[in-house]
Amino acid sequence: MTIDGLLALHTYRTGRTGRLPLVLLHGFPLDHHMWDDVVDLLPGDRTVLAPDLPGFGTSPAGADVSDALGAPAEPALETVADAVAATLRAAGVERAIVAGLSMGGYVAMALVERHPDLVAGLGLLDTKSTADDDAARANRLRIAGVVTADGDVDALLGMRRSLLGETSLVLRPELVERIEGWIRGQGPAGVAWAQRAMAARPDRTEVLTGFEPPALVLVGEEDEVAPLAAAQQLAAALASAVLVVVPRAGHLSSIENPEPVAAALDALGLRADQVHRAARD
Ligand code: MLT
Repeated sequence: MTIDGLLALHTYRTGRTGRLPLVLLHGFPLDHHMWDDVVDLLPGDRTVLAPDLPGFGTSPAGADVSDALGAPAEPALETVADAVAATLRAAGVERAIVAGLSMGGYVAMALVERHPDLVAGLGLLDTKSTADDDAARANRLRIAGVVTADGDVDALLGMRRSLLGETSLVLRPELVERIEGWIRGQGPAGVAWAQRAMAARPDRTEVLTGFEPPALVLVGEEDEVAPLAAAQQLAAALASAVLVVVPRAGHLSSIENPEPVAAALDALGLRADQVHRAARD
């Protein structure tokens, strides 16, 4: 595998020059499609890119990505961040606004740590900077073992409901089926690799304290997976964060209430463009 083809990079649209590209990193156990509704609502003048992370969508398996990068064999979000950086650079992107939801947020924070020159603006959506506690880590390793033994992702289907907020479950039950379709589109090897990688992630709160470019922290008001307290901790660590609480949304704010998510990402983009232009002139 060449670095050029490292991760599948979905180009939603090509905008005009003078605007930083927006890179969207998806959550677990999904792929770039979880951004479709948000991107439909974004202004058309900005390039929007979304990789499928290793083992998800049409991207190669985590083990193959590690091999191609010469990275350690153990599953790691550091490898994911390096793969995103290499994929973007191969596509000619040297600087971008990077926004990630949940697992995508963990990867965005690893990018800030390992490839700070790439990140001109940071969006952390429904995510947290802390590491897992022992129970959460053990549960991830258990799930990795179950999907590997079963050879399918059925053990994750409970997430089609648990990722959604109460309002969506009552008023938008069709989302459950949509999420189920996305989960069923992933393979057990990719899911297991990602669970092991997330289990191994360190606390990255300190990484955020050194990050100065514009930042957005966004959380669904009904998110019980990465709740408001986690978002407040992120916002407190960042020098220039705007905190947005999205009404009528749980953990998957991007599909539960995409309008305020798109508006917040657009505002982040405009702030990052301004800082980027000022630094260049
Ligand atoms: C996600 O939505 O990406 C997951 O909730 C992340 C996690 O399992 O910590």
